[in-house]
Amino acid sequence: MKPQQNRRILLIDDMLTIHEDFRKILLAKPEARDLDVAEETLFGKSTAPAQGSFELDSAYQGRDGVAMVEAALQAGRPYAMAFVDMRMPPGWDGVETIERLWRVDPQVQIVICTAYSDHSWEDVLARLDAQDRLLIVKKPFDMIEISQLARTLTAKWALTQQAAWQLSGLEDVVRELKVTEAALRHSNQALESFSYSVAHDLRSPLKTIDGFSHLLQRSSSGETAERTKHYLTRIRAGVKQMGELTEGLLGLAQMSRAELKIEAVDLSALARQVLRDCQERDPARTVKVQVQSGLQAMGDCALLRQLLENLLANAWKFSAKSTAAEITVGQLAGNFAGAVYFVRDNGAGFDMAYADKLFGAFQRLHLADDFAGTGIGLATAHRVIARHAGRIWAEGAVGEGATFFFTVPEASPEQPGADRPSVEVAAS
Ligand SMILES: Nc1ncnc2c1ncn2[C@@H]1O[C@H](COP(=O)(O)OP(=O)(O)OP(=O)(O)O)[C@@H](O)[C@H]1O
Ligand SMILES: [Mg+2]
Repeated sequence: MKPQQNRRILLIDDMLTIHEDFRKILLAKPEARDLDVAEETLFGKSTAPAQGSFELDSAYQGRDGVAMVEAALQAGRPYAMAFVDMRMPPGWDGVETIERLWRVDPQVQIVICTAYSDHSWEDVLARLDAQDRLLIVKKPFDMIEISQLARTLTAKWALTQQAAWQLSGLEDVVRELKVTEAALRHSNQALESFSYSVAHDLRSPLKTIDGFSHLLQRSSSGETAERTKHYLTRIRAGVKQMGELTEGLLGLAQMSRAELKIEAVDLSALARQVLRDCQERDPARTVKVQVQSGLQAMGDCALLRQLLENLLANAWKFSAKSTAAEITVGQLAGNFAGAVYFVRDNGAGFDMAYADKLFGAFQRLHLADDFAGTGIGLATAHRVIARHAGRIWAEGAVGEGATFFFTVPEASPEQPGADRPSVEVAAS
């Protein structure tokens, strides 16, 4: 329940006259209280005290005071504060009373009022060890001191309750978030294993269709069979494409399942090797390749290789129609929380309006006739980075190339320094 204002005060003092003084200072004018009582009688509900007034209860011995605090707490109407006298013969003294009182209700704010003490104040403070809820006022005191103490400490009580209430609200939110996160993770795993088994199960009927249509194609002969052969070629192309899609899905699902093996990875060496492979597969092309030296990351080497394979295969592919193709791999210079790596090309580029679609499975921004592909590469790259709790994003413009940025947060503390050569030509 949201904490309310609380103006209930308890005075524990063995001197009767003090109680009279406190009543004069803290209680509202009698007419205001009479009206409250009349309203309570008529409407049967407890009313808040008039503005500026307090509810003041009296106890003349420590034992009685503690009993009243306990009863108030049990009734759900705790005291916000108590004024406690230091010397109250024959019973407990102020220090013992306060100790016991806080055992019952640790929230209550206390003011010790005294002319003299049997203990040194250092001893009192050390013994009570709750200096944030304890004030001292020396007798004789001014009226304004008492009323101001009452106002401030009852307000402090309410603020403390409110802070605790808000904190417990926050804790509830965190708990709910954790439950939601666990449920999401669970449904994600379920979806992943679903796509894995769908892709896996699709393999075998596809192989059957492919195999038999191939046999049919070979066994057909003669003029009339030409048309059949043409249809079969189309069927087999469709089957091939579907096979690539299922293989892509399978690869994606498998990658999510594999255990991560975190180690120091030389991204520069990996990138150079991947680019050499691109060149070997496509020896006719001339691409100016620049890979910055000393790019180090902590991550799973096999997954980071897949990431670079996909990003660099794209850079290679989408720069195929550029007259002087260039691919650059490096790290952004500047003060970032972690290293930001990038793969840049000066190829076909893409429309930034669709940048949020790039990393979805089977999302392609170019026609298959212009640039072949399945649309699984960037989804794979995204999964690799997600598994490293990093970020991946892209910038580009149609006809002006594209840059893919990524972070791998577990980066080694030994980042490449400014003294290293910023960019070097690795191969062409
Ligand atoms: N370097 C790039 N330049 C321009 N567009 C790009 C680049 N990289 C990716 N894209 C766009 O993003 C789409 C998705 O990329 P992704 O790598 O997932 O698929 P793909 O390369 O078409 O096929 P796959 O990687 O499965 O062979 C691409 O089809 C292309 O439209
Ligand atoms: Mg690709």
